[in-house]
Amino acid sequence: MALLIYKIIHLTGIAMTLMALGGAMVYTIAGGRKADLRWRKPVAITHGVGLFLALLGGFGMLARMGIHWPWPGYIFVKVVVWVLFGGLLTLIYKKPDAGKGLWAATIALFALAAYMAIFKPF
Ligand code: HEM
Repeated sequence: MALLIYKIIHLTGIAMTLMALGGAMVYTIAGGRKADLRWRKPVAITHGVGLFLALLGGFGMLARMGIHWPWPGYIFVKVVVWVLFGGLLTLIYKKPDAGKGLWAATIALFALAAYMAIFKPF
């Protein structure tokens, strides 16, 4: 039961992170700048809490699955994706012109992490 609860926490955290990134990207692609974004704080909070819940759920599942250090390769890849998602919000605001590229990159990073979680290739 706990494993499935951790998975719900994990996926909810990832959804929150993606919502915050997506919202910020649509805003900057449409020409908006961070200083003028009235909803900046809720976006930042959703991003931060989302990352935290993704981490909590992910490591909770690892513990329940009896996976300890050194982690299998697929977990390392997912941790790198998590770190990139952490830095992406700042990049979106700093490089608004790269918005469309970051949009595609975010989708690709999610697909990579999901592939790793489901197929565990290494
Ligand atoms: C902090 C790093 C992360 C850790 C420790 C972690 C760990 C895990 C674990 C242990 C599972 C369960 C795998 C299984 O059911 O056998 C899982 C599932 C999943 N993770 Fe992560 N994960 C991390 C980051 C991410 C990120 C950044 C994403 C997406 C952007 C992601 C997407 C998923 C998805 C979609 C599943 C569900 C797969 C399924 O239903 O079987 N994870 N994760």
